[in-house]
Parts: sequence; structure tokens; C-alpha cells
Amino acid sequence: MLLAQFIRDAARQLEALYPPGEARSLVARLVEEVQGVKDYVAVLEPSLEAAPELSEGLARLLDGEPLQYVTGVQEFYGRRFRVRPGVLIPRPETEILVREACVHALQLPGAREHGSGALSGPRVLDLCTGSGCIAWSVALEVPGARVVGVDISDEALAVARTQNPAAPPSFPARPGISAPQFIEADVLGGLPELPDGSFDILVANPPYIRESERAAMHRNVLEHEPALALFVPDADPLLFYRAIAGHARRLLAPGGWGMVEINEALGAQTASVFESAGLQNVQILPDFFGRDRFVSFIL
Ligand SMILES: C[S@@+](CC[C@H](N)C(=O)[O-])C[C@H]1O[C@@H](n2cnc3c(N)ncnc32)[C@H](O)[C@@H]1O
Repeated sequence: MLLAQFIRDAARQLEALYPPGEARSLVARLVEEVQGVKDYVAVLEPSLEAAPELSEGLARLLDGEPLQYVTGVQEFYGRRFRVRPGVLIPRPETEILVREACVHALQLPGAREHGSGALSGPRVLDLCTGSGCIAWSVALEVPGARVVGVDISDEALAVARTQNPAAPPSFPARPGISAPQFIEADVLGGLPELPDGSFDILVANPPYIRESERAAMHRNVLEHEPALALFVPDADPLLFYRAIAGHARRLLAPGGWGMVEINEALGAQTASVFESAGLQNVQILPDFFGRDRFVSFIL
């Protein structure tokens, strides 16, 4: 089939699931990732054939699968991250968490001067690391950073450990960059493998959507993204934050800083979990839409 014909047919079929503009843009991104050409090339080269793999990709989109699982890629903090079913697709608001962590990490001794001889840089812990998008982004942005990512899912860890987001086109990597270390562990447990006071920065984007909020969510998230990464019981929606506040108390060095992503409906309650645990300067911070999306604190 000609590429131009594929684009027209695919967009029309996807309009059964998505508004027309979104359907068209999904097809454009599918063509770009799978065939390696921009969609307008179909107009410039009308005799260009569609790559056979496009039909399989379209079938998966028509089944409601997110584009990122079909292409295997999601952009995050300016880099390309691999994703696949079983691993949460990184969301744009989480880039705010990365930016804040990098700003803090770059102010710590050993970050900037690493290339010129310092032996150690900021130690950063990313709990519930998933694809490793936060851990890798901080590791690549902060020279000298030593980053540890923790997750309970071996599927997520297999992806996190084999990410290669520093590869072209994001090269050149700077001196002092090291890959994060990834550990399989239950954040709701004690994390005995991590020594007391061994981190300067703690970040986390844990599961925080209440089961009762399922009804308001898109089908393609509910049917295709891992429930383990998303949901918490209505009876105890802050269980991860209680555990994370305890980890922050034990694992951060004195004066250490932390930030977690949160459920917008539970900002004040989440902040008080950190206050009750004895953390200082607890602040609620907004996302792009002004919603309560993060809590930051210091030890
Ligand atoms: C919301 S996702 C965040 C993934 C990634 N950090 C991001 O921002 O895209 C939450 C992650 O927590 C992990 N997780 C769920 N329960 C966990 C537990 N008890 N201990 C450790 N990780 C857990 C899931 O596997 C998932 O990768």
C-alpha cells in the first residue's frame, strides 16, 4: 500500500477511538518511528510504499494500546526512553521533579567540579523508579551524581537497567557521568540494603491513584498500563508516602533534600505525612496546570 493511502486510512479508522486531530497526529508519530520519515514525505513522494510493519502498529493502536508501547519509545527530559507493556510510560509532569532534583544536586559539592578531579558527587535515591526515567535523567544531567533506583517490578527493572538514553542524538555525555544502579526491593519494606544517611537527595513517584478514581481514567491507561504502578487502596491511599517519609528520615544525610510526586486531591494530607515524620520545610508544589502535584522537604 502507498504511504499516503495508509496515512489516510489509518487516521480515519483511529477516529473511532480518538478526536480527528489526535488520530492524525498518532498516525504521523507512528510513521515517523516505524518508517523513519515525516508524514509529509507521503505528499512529496507519492509513490512511496508504506512499511509493512505499519499495519501491525495500526492494529495495536486500534486495540487501544498507547502509541508509546507500539513504538517502544517515550521522550522524557529531552531524551528517548524505552518503554514496553508492564512499565509505566513517563509523564511530562514528572519532568518538574527531575528539574528540581537536578537544581538541588548541582548545588551540592562534587557535582560541577567532578570533571576536574572531585572524587564524589551527590548521592541520589529514586524510589519506585519504573523505567528509570528519573534516575537516568539525573545521572545524565549532574556530573558526578551516584544514583540508585529501586523498584519491586522485575519487568520495570529490566527496562531501567538497559535504557540507553545518552545515546545519540543526546550525546555528547559529559565527563563524570555514570549509569544509575538499580535494585529490586519493596519500598513498603525497610530497604535494609541501603545504609543509614547514605543519600543527599531522595525522589519518588510512587503509585498514588485511588482505586475509586479508575472510573475517570482513559481506557488505554486502564487496559494497558500496569496497575501495580498506578493504584493504591482507597482505605489507605498514602501508604507509600508513610514508607517514603520513614526512608527519608533514615537514608538522607543531615540537611538532605527530597521531593515526591503526589495525588492532586491529597496535597495537604500528603504534606502532613512528611511533617508528622519530622521532616522540615515541607512544601506543596504545583504542576503545569497549577494542581498540587509535588511535596518537597528537607531532613
Ligand atoms: C507511578 S510509577 C513511577 C515510575 C517512574 N518513576 C516514572 O516516574 O515514570 C510507580 C512505580 O512504583 C513501582 N512499585 C509499585 N509498588 C512498589 C513497591 N511496593 N516497592 C517498590 N516499587 C513499587 C511500580 O513498579 C512502578 O514502576
